[in-house]
Parts: sequence; C-alpha cells; structure tokens
Amino acid sequence: MSTSSDISSLFKLFGGRSAHYQEISQEDEKQSSMERWPGVANVDLSSVSTAEPTVSAKAGAVARPALFAGVVVQASPVVAPEPAPAPVQQSMPVAGSGVTPDWAAESLHSLLGKLAQEDRREVVSAPVRVARPRPSLANIKIIAVISAKGGVGKSTLAAGLSAVMQRQGRAVLALDLDPQSALINHLGVAIDPMQVAAEGLAHCVADAQMRDFCQPTPSGVFVLPYGMVDEGQRRTFERQLEDEPDWLAQQLSELQLADGSVVVLDTPPGPSAYLQQALSVANVAVVVSLADAASYATLPMIDRLLSTYTADRADFYGATYVINQVDQSRKLSKDITQIMRGILGNRVAGIIHRDQSIAEALAYNQSVLDYEPSGQGCHDLQAIALNILARLFATQRSEQLA
Ligand SMILES: Nc1ncnc2c1ncn2[C@@H]1O[C@H](COP(=O)(O)OP(=O)(O)O)[C@@H](O)[C@H]1O
Ligand SMILES: [Mg+2]
Repeated sequence: MSTSSDISSLFKLFGGRSAHYQEISQEDEKQSSMERWPGVANVDLSSVSTAEPTVSAKAGAVARPALFAGVVVQASPVVAPEPAPAPVQQSMPVAGSGVTPDWAAESLHSLLGKLAQEDRREVVSAPVRVARPRPSLANIKIIAVISAKGGVGKSTLAAGLSAVMQRQGRAVLALDLDPQSALINHLGVAIDPMQVAAEGLAHCVADAQMRDFCQPTPSGVFVLPYGMVDEGQRRTFERQLEDEPDWLAQQLSELQLADGSVVVLDTPPGPSAYLQQALSVANVAVVVSLADAASYATLPMIDRLLSTYTADRADFYGATYVINQVDQSRKLSKDITQIMRGILGNRVAGIIHRDQSIAEALAYNQSVLDYEPSGQGCHDLQAIALNILARLFATQRSEQLA
C-alpha cells in the first residue's frame, strides 16, 4: 500500500478530512505528508490492516476497529447564561464629587458595619454560574492506570492493556496524561518517538480538540501523546485542568468514540490535576505496585486519593490492583506479594513477573506482545487485560468490582 493511500485511509478513520489532502502526489507524497501531519506520515503502517473491525480477532492479528463514531459535531459547552450584574450602589461620596469629607460624621466602626451589610447584599445578588451537566460517557469504558510512586510500570501496563484489548476487537485509545510523555514509547512505534509525540494533549487549549492529535500506531491502538511543551505551556494546560474539573470528560465526550471503545489513561505518580481528571472519568482504576516495602507503604495514600476523587460516582466500579515485577526467586518479593494478596483478596487483577523481555521490548520500540509473545511477562499482561476487560463489560451496577 502506498503512503498516500495509507494517509487517505487514516483520514477516513479520523473522520473523513482527506479532501484537504487530495493534492498529495506519488512523487512528493512523503515530503508533503510529513509537513502536514508529521506523526501519521512517519508511522510505519506496513503491518496495519484497514480491514473492518472484528470482534474476535485472534492474538497476533491486527484488527482496526473504528475509533470514532460518525462526524464530530462541535458541541459547545453547556453553560447557563450569566445574569446581568446587579447595578452598583453609589452609597459613599467619591473623590471629585464636590462633597467635603466629614470624617467625624460617622464612626469608622459604623461605616465598616454598613460596608459589611452591603457585602452581604452583593453576595446574595452575585451572578450564579450554573455547573454544566456532566457529559455522558456511558457508551465507552475508561481505565485509569495509577500509582503513588513512579517507575512501577504504569506506562508498561497501560500500553500492554491497550494492545491486548485491541487484539480482542476493541477500538482502543491510549491517552497519556503524564508530562513525561513516555506512553508512546511503549506502544511499538518504530520511528523517532520524540517526533511522533511532538503534538498532543497538552496542546488542547482554547479551541484545539483532542481529535486533532490522536494518532494510529502499528498495533492498531490509537494514541494521544501528552506532547512536547515548554514549562509555560505546561502550566497553562495544568491551570485549565484545575479550573475545569470535568475538562477530560467534556473532551472525551466530544471525541464521539464508537460504542464499546476503551480508553486507557496513563497518569503521573501521586496526586495531581491529571490524576483528578483521570479519576473523575474512569470506570475502573488499576493501581500498580511493586512487591516491595516502598510501594506497599504508599497504598493507603492511593486509597485516600481514590475516595477523594471517586466518591459518589455511580459509574466508578472500583479499584483493582496489579503487582508488578514479582521475582519468585527473592523471598521478600514473594512474601510481600503474598501479604498484598491476603489484604486485597480478589481486588488483585493479577501479578506480572519481572521479565527482561518487557524492558527489552521498550528498548527496541516494540510492543511486548510482538517482541516476546510467549514470554512470562506477555502471558501475565494478557491474563490481566482479559480479567479487567471481562469485569468491565460484564459488570452491572449490582456487581461492582469488589
Ligand atoms: N514486569 C517487568 N519486568 C521487567 N521490567 C519491567 C517490568 N515492568 C516494567 N518494567 C520496566 O520498568 C521501567 C519503568 O516502567 P514504566 O512503565 O515506565 O513505569 P512508570 O510508568 O510507572 O514510571 C521500564 O524500563 C520498564 O521496561
Ligand atoms: Mg510512565
């Protein structure tokens, strides 16, 4: 398949904007497509099938379920019109009005009392901003991969879950909410990851939409990188997240993902505006921990964050735990795994053994599913992904994750 037809197919997947790009010729197609859409133009799609979505794709086969449902209608956020501000009451003489100030006419105490009364009136008559209704995301499932500590395997797991679920026939969007912008490195993109990840989520300020930055990967998973931004841009983006607690919910709803799609959110460690956004939309939180004392000590903090951000959300099924890098040859690793299993019971979705092929897959820009399909790490990832998938799609309100 030629690069131009690759691009044309991709535009179809992204909502049919290829008309703008019809001038791409066979001769200069690579050059011009690199200029117009660097991420897409450089992705090696030789292994990407454009076949119709399959629901029962076999492991190893690349299915391409449609991620987006129809054409996006740009829905403007629903904000109640603000009432006109109450007229300012001119209650005190102002400079230049010709009135000589009489400092003794009324005590400061009495004047302060009057001001306080006016303040109270202003509070009552202040414009009321009605919260916009939370958008419905009921047609998709959202998984947040979280941890209190860094380096425990969140991005590895987020990418692994995405790849396995995609092979199960789900349309999957892997979304990087971590300013490290490392998720794309775990998704087997065989080109310079810095180049692919240049634009992304953090560029979604003002009118920029998430859809503009979603990219396909060779595995069929779509990725929305965090993007490369300078410190000023990062702070602006984070302020937006802090000012609009339902920003991610609104953006995901405007994406109009196909029914049954899965969104996997990779997050930075510990409390942050990113974690708050992730937990305010997730149907399930996957808590990643190592089998060591440091990780174990952070689990109560995760519980507190979970109850802070997910309380009262009927569509949050609960948290499930993954113990990563378990080393059966080390007593401490085995013991801590056993203790965690004892405490968490069936809330443990599974363990992932320490497996060199997981680290090597990252080094060689490959998905671990392709790099070492018969390895222990790949086997563990598959079992966990299937477990979470089954529980997510089978879960009714009455049988939430324990
Ligand atoms: N089960 C595992 N076995 C071996 N190496 C692993 C395993 N899980 C993760 N790693 C390696 O650990 C490092 C950190 O993983 P990463 O997913 O980036 O963590 P986080 O996203 O939590 O910071 C990476 O080099 C990754 O390849
Ligand atoms: Mg990470």
